Amino acid sequence: MDLFEYQARDMFEKHGVPVLAGATADTPEAARDAAEEIGPKSGGVTVVKAQVKTGGRGKAGGVKVAKSADEAEQHAAAILGMDIKGHTVHRVMIAQGARIAEEYYFSILLDRANRSLLAMCSKEGGMEIEQLAVERPEALAKVEVDANTGIDEAKAQEIVDQAGFDAETGAKIVPVLQKLWTVYRDEDATLVEVNPLVKTEDGEIVALDGKVTLDGNADFRQPHHAELEDKASTDPLEAQAKELDLNYVKLDGNVGIIGNGAGLVMSTLDVVAYAGEDYTGGVAKPANFLDIGGGASAEVMANGLHVILGDEQVKSVFVNVFGGITACDAVANGIVKALEMLGDEETKPLVVRLDGNNVEEGRRILAEANHPLVSIEDTMDGAARKAAELAAAAN
Ligand SMILES: Nc1ncnc2c1ncn2[C@@H]1O[C@H](COP(=O)(O)OP(=O)(O)OP(=O)(O)O)[C@@H](O)[C@H]1O
Ligand SMILES: [Mg+2]
Repeated sequence: MDLFEYQARDMFEKHGVPVLAGATADTPEAARDAAEEIGPKSGGVTVVKAQVKTGGRGKAGGVKVAKSADEAEQHAAAILGMDIKGHTVHRVMIAQGARIAEEYYFSILLDRANRSLLAMCSKEGGMEIEQLAVERPEALAKVEVDANTGIDEAKAQEIVDQAGFDAETGAKIVPVLQKLWTVYRDEDATLVEVNPLVKTEDGEIVALDGKVTLDGNADFRQPHHAELEDKASTDPLEAQAKELDLNYVKLDGNVGIIGNGAGLVMSTLDVVAYAGEDYTGGVAKPANFLDIGGGASAEVMANGLHVILGDEQVKSVFVNVFGGITACDAVANGIVKALEMLGDEETKPLVVRLDGNNVEEGRRILAEANHPLVSIEDTMDGAARKAAELAAAAN
């Protein structure tokens, strides 16, 4: 789960990372009130910042300096409702203004390719770090971090040395990196990024912008992370699927998709997209990703179908199952029972492709059940074409 900047700011503060005062507002009036409270800490200057989970807010006009509470209100009015890379701004943060001398970059992330953690640091923060990494990689220090020892004082020193900081500035940054490591470790993050980490004109080091990604696999030991979830913008179908413990992602097409195994489901999305292009001129497209995993019990199948049928855009459903340890006959029985459980709820044509272990028996069971809305196809391509055509015909 990615956090909003204001949530990252609060988390930094909790772990002793130096941050500036900040408060959120979802109306221009509330922004004015916040600016009246925070402004005096920095000569009346605040910064109004769009809270969206995407980068490049500044470039899009979502970060604006205000010299008075009046101005903060005006900026908030302009920024609230703004669209930044497809994200609507529902909230702004009013941050205390910093008198910036220099902008740096720092991040800790999970380096999956190297099976370790990686710290990155640069004296040249603020700008697009991806661009810096490509154009002048030598300006971006990359230091491997052992998860067991983390960023202790020696490791922090190694990072600032490699980034080329002078001794005085480096000494000020070292304890901040140690605190940021505490955030990474104690909160079970997979990313902690500060861009910019600034040195103020008074020589203080402050985290001015924070990006944190939390590891959902650690939710069981981080119960307080549930409060950080952005429920308002979670798709209702995705929320329902999560309650049912399903791996579901809503897409915007009209062919519902169920498969067993993430790889099979991914390729099912591809063949449906291709079939949609080829046979329906792009009318039919995948409506979702849904992996019901191994097993494919009737209950899981029924839950999956229930979520997909609840999607108004869905006009047909493609069930694509490869029988492995759970053989096709068990899967077919699961589908038949799921359809019984759903009863009248099942109103959309269902195309089933079964293959693998014990496929003949599986197909026989489905044929025998003879459900009026179910058709059986032998191949994945054939089933994709059929599902696409049914969806297009119903559009
Ligand atoms: N509190 C602040 N006081 C003064 N200047 C600020 C403050 N917050 C941000 N800035 C300035 O605005 C710039 C952009 O801010 P920020 O890094 O938060 O947004 P962004 O980089 O555009 O967003 P993102 O990191 O999502 O791409 C900073 O590099 C900094 O120069
Ligand atoms: Mg930034």
